[in-house]
Amino acid sequence: MIGNEIHFAPIQGYTDNEYRNVHSAFLGGVDYYYTPYLSVENNGKVKLLADIDRVSDPLKPHTIPQLLPANVAETKTIADHIARAGFKMVNLNLGCPYPMVTRRGRGAALIGKPRLVAQMVDMLIEDYGFSVSLKMRSGLVNEHEIFTFLDCFPHKKGQQIILHPRVASQLYKGKANVENFGRCRQLFPEIDFVYNGDIVSVSSFKLIAAILPGQQKWMIGRGLLLNPALAFEIKNEEESSEHRQEMQFIAFARLLVAEIEQQSSDKEHALNRAKIQLKMLFANVVRLKQMAKRIQKSRSSDEIKSILNEASLI
Ligand SMILES: Cc1cc2nc3c(=O)[nH]c(=O)nc-3n(C[C@H](O)[C@H](O)[C@H](O)COP(=O)(O)O)c2cc1C
Repeated sequence: MIGNEIHFAPIQGYTDNEYRNVHSAFLGGVDYYYTPYLSVENNGKVKLLADIDRVSDPLKPHTIPQLLPANVAETKTIADHIARAGFKMVNLNLGCPYPMVTRRGRGAALIGKPRLVAQMVDMLIEDYGFSVSLKMRSGLVNEHEIFTFLDCFPHKKGQQIILHPRVASQLYKGKANVENFGRCRQLFPEIDFVYNGDIVSVSSFKLIAAILPGQQKWMIGRGLLLNPALAFEIKNEEESSEHRQEMQFIAFARLLVAEIEQQSSDKEHALNRAKIQLKMLFANVVRLKQMAKRIQKSRSSDEIKSILNEASLI
């Protein structure tokens, strides 16, 4: 399976700069990281700028900021900041499923507006020289919407599209429709498709890969949060033993807590961030359930660190 390219999906609230730093340094296996989406707030300011401003130089060529705009003007407002921060690649969000977002013409609402999306892409290329990818669902309510979008989208040759084959109204329910992804790939071979959805283990990866022969580009979100070694495991075709995985998770957690603490001047905020990240990290690790509970009850980052230190000595 060498040759697979793995993209770490943006997950708002989790895959922030601290997480990406520790993940790339400690576990790796990921070719590209995406920032959680950047959007223009009601006051005209761009949300989450700190996340891209703090990306280290070595990680910049592997980090792709994501925009969640409703129109060309918003795209430009966000792109100005991204260009100033020194990035070369950007990703447009055409997938966010929440009505609060789609009602404002953002996220999955753009699946119905291929010509507007083309204008955004043209502007990002012409005005900033960015390389632009799209991240989308198959539709807002109907999974055939993707075909209409692709029929009407003018510049398909070489366009990278990360497709999560669920419709927005499903949110995360049901299964990703791998066959629908396969049909898109077959009908539009000139497009550079990246598969996204429901890869949670080496075995689920193998099942999906068997339906999509030749597919080498994959985006993984929740599966990597629950097992940060998954990209490495997929590339090396081996699942870690339970014990090795536990030791790895504890070591990863220690680095993550230290990085969060170092990047934050607010102790309470750092403690809450650490608890959120570690709750997800240990969610499926049955044998560390008691330790995970103690972490959630901790009153300081130092307390979390000493719980993790104890666990790593076992
Ligand atoms: C809590 C949460 C936050 C997310 N935030 C974003 C986001 O900021 N931008 C985006 O494009 N997708 C976002 N997603 C969607 C994921 O990037 C991904 O497309 C989706 O989870 C399907 O992939 P998976 O099955 O590998 O997790 C989010 C998903 C979840 C569950």
